[in-house]
Amino acid sequence: MKTFRTTALIGLSLALSAAIAPIAIAQDAPPAAPAGPGSGSGKGGQGAPRGEGGEQRGGRGGAQAVSLEGSMKGMNRALKALKGAVGDASKKNDCLKMVSEMQRNCAASKTAAVPAEYLKNAADAAAKAKIEDEFRSELRTNMRLLLDLEDAIVAGKTDEATALIAKVEALRDHAHKEMGVKD
Ligand code: HEM
Repeated sequence: MKTFRTTALIGLSLALSAAIAPIAIAQDAPPAAPAGPGSGSGKGGQGAPRGEGGEQRGGRGGAQAVSLEGSMKGMNRALKALKGAVGDASKKNDCLKMVSEMQRNCAASKTAAVPAEYLKNAADAAAKAKIEDEFRSELRTNMRLLLDLEDAIVAGKTDEATALIAKVEALRDHAHKEMGVKD
């Protein structure tokens, strides 16, 4: 009787581990491949739903596709708030959060593909690649300005911070005009 119970127990645990194993393997499976540059087909065609303010955080290694519109809106929201607070020394910590929020959304924008509608007039693959390059180059310039802006806020240099915000806005307007973004 005892032998039978032991055998039954061993049998049961073997059956259980066989049932659980595929679940463990499924959990270890890598995340789905991200949508690569140029895989979009129109404004929303980037292989992922559109979030706001960088909501779509990447999984392991941040490898998921990012909504450019959401990241741009996130930058815009933080910029507006920052403009209203940058002259007030008592809001320094809030301003530092806002500028970091802009940097986060700028970095997220850099991981996004240029939406197809901004590439559709490019004559060939080389012309498309040039637009992609310029897009990322403008965003790198934007990120540098945002880091300088952070330094100015940390140092309490309000005039310098205000001048840098104007530069960020000028860059945004220039980049949007070049790409044909209607905002
Ligand atoms: C702080 C600087 C910037 C701000 C606040 C900003 C803000 C915005 C806003 C509000 C939109 C419209 C989103 C929508 O409603 O569809 C937008 C779209 C866009 N922006 Fe910016 N932008 C900035 C800088 C840049 C830079 C440097 C580039 C690079 C070239 C850029 C490229 C684009 C593109 C391609 C779109 C179209 C996105 C889409 O249609 O999905 N922006 N941006």
